Amino acid sequence: MSKFKLLVSLICIMIAGLAIASTGDISERIKKVGEVCIEGADCASASAATAVVVAGGASVESNFNKSCATCHNAGVAGAPKFGDVAAWAPRLEKGMDTLYSSTINGLPPAMPQKGMCFSCSDDDLRALVDYMVDAAK
Ligand code: HEC
Repeated sequence: MSKFKLLVSLICIMIAGLAIASTGDISERIKKVGEVCIEGADCASASAATAVVVAGGASVESNFNKSCATCHNAGVAGAPKFGDVAAWAPRLEKGMDTLYSSTINGLPPAMPQKGMCFSCSDDDLRALVDYMVDAAK
């Protein structure tokens, strides 16, 4: 291998290394966005030890605050607000199975797949829907 080719390979490896390193930064930044606490939300209680714990260790409330609150506390892009009985009434008419599946698969255009909780299992997501629905009855 010529010195030039060797140099080119080395540069490629360095670029690849940089790309991997910056991907790490991005997921770190995304994580922080998900943890943002919306004004008016009771974020301190989210981490309270009394929160309901589901399989996997993460509580419904902390999953909600981490992933769903961003849109559902503020009503972003027409998201039915947490605890808003009128906004949830037409959703409840669809039946729980529909709500579970639109949460797991997403509801285009604005409700993202898994509600952005990519660490949530399907059971975690069903628990989140139950939690939101119970709050809006
Ligand atoms: C990026 C914003 C966003 C996030 C994050 C988000 N949602 Fe939604 N969600 C929406 C919007 C917007 C709608 C209304 C969609 C529509 O009717 O077109 C919606 C609707 C829903 C519905 C009603 C679905 C139906 O069939 O009517 C449920 C249930 C729901 N979200 C649960 C969740 C859960 C659980 C999480 C967290 C794991 C979550 N959402 C996170 C934006 C979001």
